[in-house]
Amino acid sequence: MGSVLVTGGAGYIGSHVMAVLAGQGRRCVCVDNFSNSSPEAVARVRSLAPGAIALYEADIRDLAALRAILAKEDCASVIHMAGLKAVGESVEFPERYHDNNVRGTQCLLEALHDSSVRRFVFSSSATVYGIPERVPLDETAPTRPQSPYGENKLEIEGVLAGLAAGDPAWRVINLRYFNPVGAHPSGTIGEDPSDIPNNLMPFVCQTAAGRRERLAIFGADYPTADGTCIRDYIHVMDLADGHVAALRALDSAADGEVMTVNLGTGRGVSVLELVNTFERVNGIRVPRVYSDRRPGDVPVCYADATRARRTMGWSARRTIEDMCRDAWRWQSRNPEGYATAS
Ligand SMILES: NC(=O)c1ccc[n+]([C@@H]2O[C@H](COP(=O)([O-])OP(=O)(O)OC[C@H]3O[C@@H](n4cnc5c(N)ncnc54)[C@H](O)[C@@H]3O)[C@@H](O)[C@H]2O)c1
Repeated sequence: MGSVLVTGGAGYIGSHVMAVLAGQGRRCVCVDNFSNSSPEAVARVRSLAPGAIALYEADIRDLAALRAILAKEDCASVIHMAGLKAVGESVEFPERYHDNNVRGTQCLLEALHDSSVRRFVFSSSATVYGIPERVPLDETAPTRPQSPYGENKLEIEGVLAGLAAGDPAWRVINLRYFNPVGAHPSGTIGEDPSDIPNNLMPFVCQTAAGRRERLAIFGADYPTADGTCIRDYIHVMDLADGHVAALRALDSAADGEVMTVNLGTGRGVSVLELVNTFERVNGIRVPRVYSDRRPGDVPVCYADATRARRTMGWSARRTIEDMCRDAWRWQSRNPEGYATAS
């Protein structure tokens, strides 16, 4: 069986995907420029899993480097996760985001053109839906991204659709992730934001650890049972399993097939429910303060995860308790993230 080329493999989700693949004996070829990650993450994955991981420090916009890697390695499929992901930053620097995310993907596709790799899994995002008209969100819901980041994801999905239409040797799955949280149950790898976290769970963890005084909860007057926003949090290990299921689904897909699949639990959990669960399962307090609503936050957003079950035989298995426990195990064992001595 050929190797899996994993772009962005040193990142939060990529490291967990590689841990699962390598744990099953699959060889991974990781390409990362470490713009938002550390080689230490890959070293930790290697310590967890028996499968081999080849690591290349390269930018996906470097065509020559990608061609050299593909010429050397026997890859059968790609999981394309490399990208910039901060929504707010994408509003500030739309050109930088387009260049890295869209041009980067086009460069990767150009390099793949000269190889025999025709199976492609893409890390898309639920952010492509924008403000939902109704929930749960299934894959036929209208796409109206609200940021350059979301537009990048939709544009890339369009590029991939065009590619498969022009050359039916391609088989593509776009995975639209909801809200990945948690960490590997060993506490060895996890989310290591280099700056102020953009997402709720790292904030909760850093507040519990005393690195931040209080967790800000944005809005307590939404039309939900406890007044806080509702999201679809998915354990990063379930998400990683979803990539393995996607690779399997590509094996039996028709040539030229392009599938778009939500990866979520199908269950909405409020911000308050998540924070209270975190306190309960970990026996630690998370001081909090209620602030004003943030512009653009929708009250309720969660997935319809039926298609993933029907087409890939995948459903999320882990609970919100697992997510909170595993996130805290990672944080408490690695207070400085990957900078912590292992
Ligand atoms: N984490 C989320 O909440 C979430 C939700 C939906 C979709 N996604 C998507 O999933 C993917 C992985 O997300 P993540 O949370 O692991 O982010 P991450 O920042 O931890 O990982 C992305 C990795 O890509 C690398 N990278 C970025 N630009 C690159 C380039 N030009 N060349 C080579 N490597 C590059 C970074 O160094 C990093 O290791 C991203 O495409 C992201 O947009 C993430």
